[in-house]
Amino acid sequence: MSVDNSSDEMPDEYKPWAGRFTEPTDAFVEAFTSSVGFDKRLYRHDIAGSIAHARMLAHVGVLTSQECKEIVSGLEDIQLDIERDEFNWSVSLEDVHMNIEARLTDHIGITGKKLHTGRSRNDQVATDIRLYLRDEIDLIAAEIKRLQAGLLDLAEREADTILPGFTHLQVAQPVVFGHHMLAWYEMLKRDHGRLMDCRKRVNVMPLGAAALAGTSYPIDRKFTAQLLGFDSVCENSLDAVSDRDFAIEFCAFAATLLMHLSRFSEELVLWASAQFDFVALPDRFCTGSSIMPQKKNPDVPELVRGKTGRVFGSLMSLLTLMKGQPLAYNKDNQEDKEPLFDAIDTVRGSLRVFADMVPAIEVKHENMARAALSGFSTATDLADYLVRNGVAFRDAHEVVGKAVRYGVENSKDLAEMSFEELAQFSPAISADVFDVLTLQGSVAARDHIGGTAPSQVRAAIQRARDNS
Ligand code: ARG
Repeated sequence: MSVDNSSDEMPDEYKPWAGRFTEPTDAFVEAFTSSVGFDKRLYRHDIAGSIAHARMLAHVGVLTSQECKEIVSGLEDIQLDIERDEFNWSVSLEDVHMNIEARLTDHIGITGKKLHTGRSRNDQVATDIRLYLRDEIDLIAAEIKRLQAGLLDLAEREADTILPGFTHLQVAQPVVFGHHMLAWYEMLKRDHGRLMDCRKRVNVMPLGAAALAGTSYPIDRKFTAQLLGFDSVCENSLDAVSDRDFAIEFCAFAATLLMHLSRFSEELVLWASAQFDFVALPDRFCTGSSIMPQKKNPDVPELVRGKTGRVFGSLMSLLTLMKGQPLAYNKDNQEDKEPLFDAIDTVRGSLRVFADMVPAIEVKHENMARAALSGFSTATDLADYLVRNGVAFRDAHEVVGKAVRYGVENSKDLAEMSFEELAQFSPAISADVFDVLTLQGSVAARDHIGGTAPSQVRAAIQRARDNS
């Protein structure tokens, strides 16, 4: 889509306020105040909102059915022109709303001038953003589900694969890789819930609030709301035109989702390093270096981690945008769009690339097992074994601490020590101790809802699939 920047392209009498003014708008002011460069992406929703408004005006007798028909078909023609890239956007017409309205009058004559009866750009733009965001929310929700399905498949494939679990990024206890994938799944489940909750407050219609106080025409707001698929109408006209909470809520959702994807990314970057070497990302999701021939860089997760900042920025922009505004509409609100659009684009891109990449993560089973065996990851299992054999937990903790120190000094993990070596630390240790020191024994023992036992992981996958 092209935007014509020449301010003399549209004569000034096209401006709806030309009657009140004695001189044309300063050329730079025109460019400075214009939003069409970014709000033209609302064209489909602007047209849908206008068509519903025209139908409502005909329904209540403010327009004749012939006038309504002309307006609707004129708007449909304009939509086709825009989609064929045959629409000349004009900066001097300021925004998507005035561009489309001016074109309508050009196209169908004076009936076009009746479309704006009983409405204002203030309620129009608030309606457009909500319609647009509602569609984007539905696409984003589907992408979250696609990523979640990929995680469940990967979790199922790797339900028996053991890797070290970490706390403080130090080896803590063995977990299965499927369990780790389900942790990411849970984060996304909460994100999806937040998004669906946000959608409820997005799907309320401001149209009918007009500039700020409502309108003197006998409008039927519920009729328009039904045509546009809104659940209800905004109850207060002043709030309707000025409220941007729904955009803030969306950005709060987006910031939390990106924070999750960023944590996810950080683990993938670490795991793909030569030092961890737990996973390999397929070449099609990586890039090389222009100078170091050996490099294969995990660009996708790095970039998603990096993009998180701009989404946090969008949230902060919108909160700051709103905090000083008196009721009702202020031109400040034109600044709501770019942060919101950027957050939407970033969320969609990040989810798409993750949903494509996750099923293709290659898991390096031996490296994970080796790492799990080398950090005394079954020390807690040994303490629990001693407790089962009558030792108090604090004493058991101390006994195992001594055994670990011996292991560090002699470069041996617990499972690599002989029975005699282990038995010197406590009379409660007998030959069956080795059963609990294996990685498999350790994970299998955590056999309750939320635990890392492979059977629990499989049951959790089943529950997740049943509920999705
Ligand atoms: N482009 C404007 C915006 O994005 C549309 C509403 C303008 N309303 C007004 N009274 N100037 O908010």
